[in-house]
Amino acid sequence: MKAIGHHEFGGPEVLQVIELPDPEPRVGEIRVRVYAAAVSPTDTLRRAGVRALDGQPATELADQDFPLVPGMEFAGVVVEIGPDTDADVKVGDHVMGAMVPSGTRGSYAEQVVVPADSVVRTPAGVDDVAASTLPMNGLTALISIDALQVAPGQTIGVTGAAGTYGGYVVQLAKAAGLRVIADAAEKDRDLVASFGADVVVARGDDVADRFLEAAPGGLDGLVDGAVLNELVVGAVRPGGRLVTVRHYESEPIGGVTFHAVRVRYFVHDRAKLEQLRELVDSGQLTLRVAQTFPAADASEAHEVLARGGTRGRLVLTFDD
Ligand SMILES: NC(=O)c1ccc[n+]([C@@H]2O[C@H](COP(=O)([O-])OP(=O)(O)OC[C@H]3O[C@@H](n4cnc5c(N)ncnc54)[C@H](OP(=O)(O)O)[C@@H]3O)[C@@H](O)[C@H]2O)c1
Repeated sequence: MKAIGHHEFGGPEVLQVIELPDPEPRVGEIRVRVYAAAVSPTDTLRRAGVRALDGQPATELADQDFPLVPGMEFAGVVVEIGPDTDADVKVGDHVMGAMVPSGTRGSYAEQVVVPADSVVRTPAGVDDVAASTLPMNGLTALISIDALQVAPGQTIGVTGAAGTYGGYVVQLAKAAGLRVIADAAEKDRDLVASFGADVVVARGDDVADRFLEAAPGGLDGLVDGAVLNELVVGAVRPGGRLVTVRHYESEPIGGVTFHAVRVRYFVHDRAKLEQLRELVDSGQLTLRVAQTFPAADASEAHEVLARGGTRGRLVLTFDD
């Protein structure tokens, strides 16, 4: 099968089409013919060697550890179910799934083998391209809201709300009955308001001031999709929680506790993936695709993502 991989760490240009053996499902696994794989910021960090791989610093990888295949989410069709496998899906079903890339196992590939718990049927009427944008970032958004430990009626803030993850957080928070104050650049105000944010404030390093104007006693919780870290702690009331996405943690500051979410521990949570599908089916969660690229043009997709300003997800397609 064809996949997109890299033989060294580096810029977008290191991505290339590589040939790999078809993966075989073992007990508890299924094989999916991938038609769409979403491109996320984490994929670019892995490609560049910035992010540790499976707990191992990228610098410790040897030549024989390459090529590496990136990609954490996909959609396609089930083609094989492993022996003695309890699967909720059957051969021929369109499914979406999340995975933690490891070696040549990543979602930028014509076929993936994943634990049966890591895939669910795609939402009704949603094609593979749109479905591929949901599992990984949707799971991250769900666990972020869980981590806030807030109740309906409480107020949260969201930074990076125009992004894929931030947008899902806003929509899921509204579905959970929370009041949401979200940041946006001037040009993205309408977009972020369309996700259901109650108040949209101007983004920036001093966004904490504007969160406090809208929530004078301080936010009950804050999800920091824009990775502003300590710059936004002051927007949260003592006793509130700040959820970070790039592993930023600290001792409590001003009574605010930190919680770094890591989606890698949740990719086998079939119940949460089902919940995401139902939220799309009910119209509470909407999917946004900015642009598709034939998989062979993955370098270009990574370049576009690195430039910033993309609204909606970039998706690689693996056609027949
Ligand atoms: N830990 C985990 O398990 C996990 C899982 C999923 C995602 N993540 C992380 O979550 C973050 C968001 O992911 P994503 O897929 O949503 O990325 P994305 O689609 O690129 O969205 C990021 C958004 O933040 C905006 N932004 C950048 N700097 C900002 C600032 N200073 N103030 C306000 N907004 C700002 C970006 O706008 P511009 O385009 O204008 O720059 C963009 O709209 C990434 O860092 C990703 O690595 C972590």
